[in-house]
Amino acid sequence: MDDASIGSFLELLRFPSISTQPEHRGDVGACAQWVQARFQTMGLEAELCPTPGHPVVLARNAHRPGRRTVLIYGHYDVQPADPIEMWEHPPFEPRIRDGVVTARGATDNKGQFFAHMLGIEAALREKGELPINLIFLVEGEEEVGSPSLVPFLEANRERLLCDVIAISDTGMVARGHPTFSYGLRGLTALEVRVTGPATDLHSGIYGGAVANPAAVLARLLASLHDADYRVTVPGFYERVRPIEGWERETWAALPMNEAAIRELTGVPQLDGEAGYNALERIWARPTAEINGMGSGYQGPGSKTVLPAHAFAKLTFRLVPDQDPIEVQDKVIAHLRAKCPPSVRLEIERGHSGAPYLVDPREGFGSAAARALKKTFGGREPALVREGGSVPIVADFKRILGVDTLLLGLALPDCRIHAPNENFPLENLEYGMRLNMVLLEEIAAA
Ligand code: BES
Ligand code: MN
Repeated sequence: MDDASIGSFLELLRFPSISTQPEHRGDVGACAQWVQARFQTMGLEAELCPTPGHPVVLARNAHRPGRRTVLIYGHYDVQPADPIEMWEHPPFEPRIRDGVVTARGATDNKGQFFAHMLGIEAALREKGELPINLIFLVEGEEEVGSPSLVPFLEANRERLLCDVIAISDTGMVARGHPTFSYGLRGLTALEVRVTGPATDLHSGIYGGAVANPAAVLARLLASLHDADYRVTVPGFYERVRPIEGWERETWAALPMNEAAIRELTGVPQLDGEAGYNALERIWARPTAEINGMGSGYQGPGSKTVLPAHAFAKLTFRLVPDQDPIEVQDKVIAHLRAKCPPSVRLEIERGHSGAPYLVDPREGFGSAAARALKKTFGGREPALVREGGSVPIVADFKRILGVDTLLLGLALPDCRIHAPNENFPLENLEYGMRLNMVLLEEIAAA
């Protein structure tokens, strides 16, 4: 990888493009402008498309009839950097050590989509043109559920029509091991707020006669699982597709075992739904997760208070063929039924994304598999599903009618969404080559 490309990558990583935090709105916009300018430097036509949220950057080459049209998607927004004190250096001041770049967004998703930009830049430089008609779409709201991109796709459907979509925003099973993901979990988010007394109370004067919102919330949250770690919401598993035999066999042969997952996460023991192994639980079973909760006194020492409120932020990871809104409705009904009349329960619906699953042998799947194999020195790609979500993939299918090739470059220890997120320059190089080979393979398929 040449110094100029690395230098550009570091520039991209310096934007604190945190989409969820209003104080970073300007940084998100500046990052979008940088991406647009970079596309223009490469010789593509590039637009900055405003939305009610953060802008979409849309770039294309000169389209010619008779060629395949490929849409490449990425996102320039990132997750918040906190807990900031756990970083070895400031998250938006990238460092390179032993060929690995550390910064928020290095893997998710700046390194991965920038690798595609470098591939296109190299092809244009070497050959003067691309083998396909290109649409490159980079959005700024993936980490908040892409609220503006769905209406954008609907409004711009005609000029986004394509034969296939390619995205690098998923994982690799190991370093140097090409990985083709044929499924993503979906999700649906909820925020729960329990309110008891009008203000915080002295827990001695009132405790025992007034329900404690923190205790009520704890019971409600605990009621989401049984002792086998199965989700207890009535009807939750109704539409869940069983794991196929070939999937169990393929996954069992992967170089990702339970010991490795334990090591990566630092837990004393893995845990989850009875009857499934760790990869099955992560890739093909739905879950209920508490992402945040709060109530009462959080400072040093003790304070004898009966808190007025308690809240929790929840997400449910979903698998085919669960429907996010249907699950949301069922969860709300379950929580309402379990909540005692001694508190008020408010539930706010959050963002949702549908799960995704394709047959990896269909459509352009074999072109993608060939491209991965060629890029990674003849190594056969691993066929996996993902536990994570890229909600727009199901919307692409629904609105544009095409499948997505998920060719991820995130390593198991890349620490996305966590402190010290990192991306090896090796993967920037792999991604650049993958882009070039993939576009050739799609053109020839
Ligand atoms: N790139 C991730 C999703 C991912 C990571 C898929 C690793 C597979 C392997 C993506 O940016 C992400 O984090 N998405 C969010 C979506 C949500 C905020 C709507 C997620 O999965 O939590
Ligand atoms: Mn991502």
